[in-house]
This record gives sequence, structure tokens and C-alpha cells, in this order.
Amino acid sequence: MHLPVPLLDGDVSLERAIHKRRTIRSFDDKALTLNQLSQLLWAAQGITEPGGFKRSAPSAGALYPMDIYAVVGSDSIAGMEPGIYHYEPSNHSISLIRKDDMRKDVANASLWQMWMAHTPLNLIITAEYSRIMGKYGHRGIRYAMIEAGHVGQNIFLQAQAMGLAAGIVGAFEDEKVIKVMGIKETHEPLLVMPVGYEGT
Ligand SMILES: Cc1cc2nc3c(=O)[nH]c(=O)nc-3n(C[C@H](O)[C@H](O)[C@H](O)COP(=O)(O)O)c2cc1C
Repeated sequence: MHLPVPLLDGDVSLERAIHKRRTIRSFDDKALTLNQLSQLLWAAQGITEPGGFKRSAPSAGALYPMDIYAVVGSDSIAGMEPGIYHYEPSNHSISLIRKDDMRKDVANASLWQMWMAHTPLNLIITAEYSRIMGKYGHRGIRYAMIEAGHVGQNIFLQAQAMGLAAGIVGAFEDEKVIKVMGIKETHEPLLVMPVGYEGT
């Protein structure tokens, strides 16, 4: 499914987004829009070089070992079926890799941080180290982890700039998250970022 074209400008200054950013753990169940999902995925890993391949976040050697997945709940994003979707930066599209609302399973795998099951969207950042270790060896693992931090902050600031809120979760059991997602074990989950409207 092709995503709407992302905006390249907005009303909230970068300074304000940085100033206001906080890790939020309580979200409203108000649905998000496909435009908001598109914008978040673009901020995370979208291609920002016209006609090229370079992305929104820096990557050692421009080797891009990260993948982004969207865990979408029932009635969480207008017009979208619940499930887990994989983001494809090359054509700014998503594809369904697993049906059903898997948010509770992701929350269970995240040491029972059950607030994640009530967040409309959980973005999962994974790394495939083989893409970067060919050039950098073991040090490539360090580079991929640093890159995940850049992607995470982009998601945080983009959410803030759109009037949304985000959380960040590193406490989870890797094998359980991999199983819930149904992805290859060579893809290591590094961060889960719940996104939605802040709860009252
Ligand atoms: C790598 C990493 C892992 C984190 N894991 C969790 C987590 O599993 N659950 C959680 O509620 N917060 C988690 N946090 C959020 C921190 O608790 C939070 O960033 C910190 O308290 C500072 O607050 P702030 O982000 O609102 O400025 C994590 C943050 C980072 C950077």
C-alpha cells in the first residue's frame, strides 16, 4: 500500500519540539490518520534525497541496517486493518506481514508494560547486522545501535511536531518480540516506540 506523500514543512519549530518532547506512557484511544502514519515512517527512515537513496537518519557507510514495522491496532488508524506492517522506504509504502491486533502481545513481550496495548500505534525498529558487518565487522553492531537512537529521536520529534506524543521502550524479550512479529531471527528488535494522542 502506497502511503500519502509526506509534508516537508510544518507549524511547530524544531526548538519547540525538542523542548516539549517527553516519554509518554498514557495515550488516548483516538485513531490516527494514514497521513500521520506516513509522516512518522518518513521521519523514521524515509528517503530524503530526490532520486537517490539517502534517508532521514544518518547511517554509517549509508548501509541502512534498520527496518521499521508498524503495529496497528483495531480502529487505530482510519481505513487500516489491524496488523503488523513493514515499511519500504524505496517507494514509501507498507506491506502487511501479520494480520490481527498484536499490541497486547507486543506489550506482554515488553515485560508486561500493558499501557502499550492501549496505544494506537507501536513502531518497532529492528537491525539486520549483516548489512553493516561486511564493511565494519563487529563495530557495525555499535553503529547500528547508534543509528537506532537517531531514528528514535526522529520519531519522537515528528510526533511532537504533529501534536502527537510518543514513548520509547527498550525493555522487552527479543525472542518474544521476534515471534510476535513473525520476522527472521537475523533481525534484532532494538526499540519499540508507542505513538498516539497523549491521554488525560
Ligand atoms: C534505550 C531506552 C530504553 C527505554 N526503555 C523504556 C521502557 O522500556 N519503558 C519505559 O517506560 N521507558 C523507557 N525509556 C524511557 C526513559 O525512561 C526516559 O527516556 C527517561 O525517563 C527520561 O524521560 P524523558 O524521555 O521523558 O525525557 C527508555 C529510554 C531509552 C533511551
